[in-house]
Amino acid sequence: MNINRKPIFAANWKMNKGASETEDFVKSFLSKTQGQSFSCEIVIAPPFVSLPKLADLLHTAATGKNAHAIQIAAQNCSQFDSGAYTGEISVLMLREFFVHYVILGHSERRAIYGETDAIINAKMKKAREANLKPIFCIGETLAERESGKLESVLRTQITEGLKDLTDKDMAETVIAYEPVWAIGTGVTATSQQAQDAHAFVRSVIAELYGADTAGRIRIQYGGSVKPGNAAELMACPDIDGALIGGAALEPQSFFEIIVNGSAE
Ligand code: PGA
Repeated sequence: MNINRKPIFAANWKMNKGASETEDFVKSFLSKTQGQSFSCEIVIAPPFVSLPKLADLLHTAATGKNAHAIQIAAQNCSQFDSGAYTGEISVLMLREFFVHYVILGHSERRAIYGETDAIINAKMKKAREANLKPIFCIGETLAERESGKLESVLRTQITEGLKDLTDKDMAETVIAYEPVWAIGTGVTATSQQAQDAHAFVRSVIAELYGADTAGRIRIQYGGSVKPGNAAELMACPDIDGALIGGAALEPQSFFEIIVNGSAE
């Protein structure tokens, strides 16, 4: 953590929680955060169908004003504007539900749905056109790490995924470093492994966009973050928050990660 960058803790619910479970979670979570102020940003990324419920719960219906300072993220978006793309959701549709962030390039999208760096890049551009803030995910597999390809894999994902994005786009982008072998496995990268990868990612951003942008961009760690390891990970100088899957499905553990991870 670096005091010049506000940490960002984002819950990635994946394909969990329809509208009624979203309501249960949010009510319980808000009862914990009530009256507290946090020096971090809190984001929830529910499935698409739960976005209207989440928007209702977090925004006062009359004004559309965010009453709880919790930002809403989508887990994906289409790279196209509209038309014959069965099953897809456009960035403008997301904007109607106060969505501010969109997770792009998640390893599950890459591995299961065949999203290439080029597709992810097209989505990044589409998100920025609609003024959505991408949470741009990158990370290596265990085989890539063990064969010494960590840096080349990350460099390719970054240069291809961010192709043609401007300095201004980068000011609105968050990077999530998520080693694939740590996602949903209970195996967390050691804080040293995570810090080394984050410092490398920041150095590549510095090469592409200059030291100022690199110093400002937030890089989250993701992969089996839990209440018990959040503080140690967040103490690393280049780690600026977390993208949390499994442990963000329970209000109490998401809350504890935020409290433990953002304590100064
Ligand atoms: P996990 O998932 O916390 O369950 O490992 C993280 C993610 O996929 O973003």
